[in-house]
Amino acid sequence: MSTKQKNNQSEQMKDSKFRELFLHELKDIYWAEKHLVKALPKMAKGATSTELADALTNHVEETENQVSRLEEVFEMLDEKAQAVKCDAMEGLLSEANDILDDTKSDTMVRDAGIIIACQKVEHYEIASYGSLVALAKKMGHNDVARKLEDTLKEEKNADKLLTELAESEVNDDAAQE
Ligand SMILES: [Fe+2]
Ligand SMILES: [Fe+2]
Repeated sequence: MSTKQKNNQSEQMKDSKFRELFLHELKDIYWAEKHLVKALPKMAKGATSTELADALTNHVEETENQVSRLEEVFEMLDEKAQAVKCDAMEGLLSEANDILDDTKSDTMVRDAGIIIACQKVEHYEIASYGSLVALAKKMGHNDVARKLEDTLKEEKNADKLLTELAESEVNDDAAQE
């Protein structure tokens, strides 16, 4: 498809239901990211190993940046940055809190639990950003797609780091407690 055709396509999609769906998903992940900025430090503080605490703290910084990136995306689309409550993320974060309540501090079982809770969060984000990238491309918003892809890469990387932490030491130590 030529650039001109693509421009026409994004013009035609201005009031489409497809664009509406895209914007709804964008507002959903915006809510989710904003809440993660508040929730992740608590997980980091509750972690037993410094490796896990550091990985989570690092991801808080990335998450703050992802919030700003979403605000840029809203701006690129000429839309107001608006958050719509994400029930899924609220549920995942409530489960993460339960892990902290149900495990003892200074145990590796707690770290194993935190990793599980955080990977569920990352997988939700990966699914969300993967879909948003696909929709943005379909609408011909390649610049927006590229921005969302940057975040998608960070989420995949965060997930991979958590797997590595679990497999390299946390699960072994937790199994011995
Ligand atoms: Fe994120
Ligand atoms: Fe994330």
